[in-house]
Amino acid sequence: MQNDLGHYRRNYQKSELIETNVPDNPMQLFQTWFYEVEQFGGVEEANAMTVSTIGLDGFPKNRVVLLKKYTYEGFIFYTNYNSEKGKAIAANPNICLSFFWPNLERQVIIKGIAEKVSENLSDGYFESRPDGSKLGAIVSDQSEVIENRSVLEQKLKELESELKGKEIERPSYWGGYIVKPESIEFWQGRPNRLHDRLRYTLQKDYSWKIERLAP
Ligand SMILES: Cc1cc2nc3c(=O)[nH]c(=O)nc-3n(C[C@H](O)[C@H](O)[C@H](O)COP(=O)(O)O)c2cc1C
Repeated sequence: MQNDLGHYRRNYQKSELIETNVPDNPMQLFQTWFYEVEQFGGVEEANAMTVSTIGLDGFPKNRVVLLKKYTYEGFIFYTNYNSEKGKAIAANPNICLSFFWPNLERQVIIKGIAEKVSENLSDGYFESRPDGSKLGAIVSDQSEVIENRSVLEQKLKELESELKGKEIERPSYWGGYIVKPESIEFWQGRPNRLHDRLRYTLQKDYSWKIERLAP
């Protein structure tokens, strides 16, 4: 089989990224970009991001998760702490997040350190989820090999009847990570492959150094 995709070619020209127009703090720029991406429309889940970890097998692995909150401190997502990514993070908390927003021809790449968020924060977010999602999180030993789909459905049925009318508590193995950024790179597509790339790197005094990278 041979599928040549060489003819897929776009000339990017929707925006620009110039040093003199950017804030000192990259989280402010992230907020502006996120807002603009949503306003411009056409992106289904603007908060879907790729999370890359270095696994226990020595391989990097990417997977998509949903960004649920961001603050000046970092980026928060929720998952199963015993999943493949959870085990990878326990062994090596240096991870990479990335967003691709084709509607505005933008990419953001964040290198940072992942830490579990407080139990309180995880409880609060778990509480806000619909019951079905809560039960799904409890019954799924995320990333474990399972016999077939009906094993899961059976577990869900049993749990539904066991917890009927009761409060569904967050299991200890499910919660949030905050990724505290060490560097954030913003990529804006430009004409003729001369794209704009600005990288913010956290300094010892907690200020951010801004550098332009060749596209
Ligand atoms: C659009 C989308 C959103 C997802 N959101 C999450 C999420 O927020 N948390 C999560 O644990 N998995 C999420 N997943 C599933 C993950 O991609 C992945 O399959 C799962 O976390 C297990 O990954 P792991 O075995 O590498 O740990 C999402 C998948 C997609 C496609």
